[in-house]
Amino acid sequence: MMFKEELIDQIRAVFPRAVTDYTGRKRAFFDNGTATLVVDNAAKAEAVARINCSANVGAIFNESKLATDTIQMGRQAITDFLNAPSPATIISGESATSLLFNLSYALGKELTGNENIVTTDYEHYTNVDPWVELERRGKVDKVRFAKLNMEEGTLDMDHLQELIDSNTKIVTITGASNMLGTISPLEEIGKLAKEVEAYFIIDAVHHIPHGPTDVQALDCDFLVFSGYKLFAPHGSYLYGKEEHLENLQPYKVRTAPTTPPGKYEWGTRNQATFAAISGVMEHLLWISSEVETNYSKEYRQFEDNKRALKIAMDAIQKYETEFSKAILTGYDDAPGLLDMPKVTIYGLTDLNRLSERDPTFSFEVENVPEEKIVNHLWKEGGIAARAGHYYSYAQDIYNKQKIVRISLVHYNTLEEIKTFLKTLDELCKQN
Ligand SMILES: Cc1ncc(COP(=O)(O)O)c(C=O)c1O
Repeated sequence: MMFKEELIDQIRAVFPRAVTDYTGRKRAFFDNGTATLVVDNAAKAEAVARINCSANVGAIFNESKLATDTIQMGRQAITDFLNAPSPATIISGESATSLLFNLSYALGKELTGNENIVTTDYEHYTNVDPWVELERRGKVDKVRFAKLNMEEGTLDMDHLQELIDSNTKIVTITGASNMLGTISPLEEIGKLAKEVEAYFIIDAVHHIPHGPTDVQALDCDFLVFSGYKLFAPHGSYLYGKEEHLENLQPYKVRTAPTTPPGKYEWGTRNQATFAAISGVMEHLLWISSEVETNYSKEYRQFEDNKRALKIAMDAIQKYETEFSKAILTGYDDAPGLLDMPKVTIYGLTDLNRLSERDPTFSFEVENVPEEKIVNHLWKEGGIAARAGHYYSYAQDIYNKQKIVRISLVHYNTLEEIKTFLKTLDELCKQN
């Protein structure tokens, strides 16, 4: 196993709400796709920054200097995490949604109305509507949606390839579907985008806590993710290639900086969120130090924190693959979802392709309403899951306005999965 028992306990200890909620109720938190729990040093760093550097940047007194340094350190931490070339390529904003709208306005200024944008049928609406808005305003001719292989819940790559032509100016894709858990073949898609010199944009919000993300290896032009899906409080980050950040003209007030990142940032920064994201990176660096002996040769091309963060995320990904396997095939004396005939799973179930999915599973139980499933899981098993619409376009494609979803991250355990599976199996047998 990638994470030793002792390390799992230590990880859970730094997430104060991993085992119980604030009322003291023991529960397994399986709603991470909606928002992850916050790691304690991120929350503490946020509180300290809130008190010690509540002043705005740019003045000579201590609070202001600390605010400036805190923001710079946060940007550097994200730079290392994404293997970005410099902190000036990291823009912060309120949410991925606001950052993508801002980006779409800036890109829209470059378009003539004859171009097209290619995206997919399994995006979050955050990566749909900023582009549809450009179409609505006549800035692009059409937003094109690549189909899914519906049975397995993966992208139809032939269709995606067909949609990209010489008029394609933007190819914008999610790192992983937040309904299906499927990871997009980003490197392949990036190459298709480059062939026609289109901007290649990645919505990494769902995939970010599940594995390494490397903007230079992906050769993407922009990538967005959100702190609240990565063990931090809210606040989101957009990486952009230096030349684009220099050249594009975002909507801004005239007195705001004319150079990136400030050129793209609406209003003053919240320094406390930068302190928090640095806290997350410290957590990941600590995980790396715990597992590093398993990585003698890998990631040698990266230095210091860049290497360590890759190792941490790689180890997390390997550990989480065990979750996907256990959820599908069972763990200990609990049967897997594949053993429960009344359960329908949306997304990849092929055990040879587990590296192509995150441990995010949407499913239904024959003849059992979604609320009943969620209530049973919560009351009988202490499983915090959700039934709903996750703003995923895929839910509209599958015509599932409401679906039960579980999504796990590295502080979850196989024991929790066992409880989940047994509780769900009990429900299947009762109905
Ligand atoms: C894939 C994906 N993109 C975007 C978002 C929205 O992010 P934000 O709330 O930061 O705008 C989500 C949230 O669930 C998501 O899963």
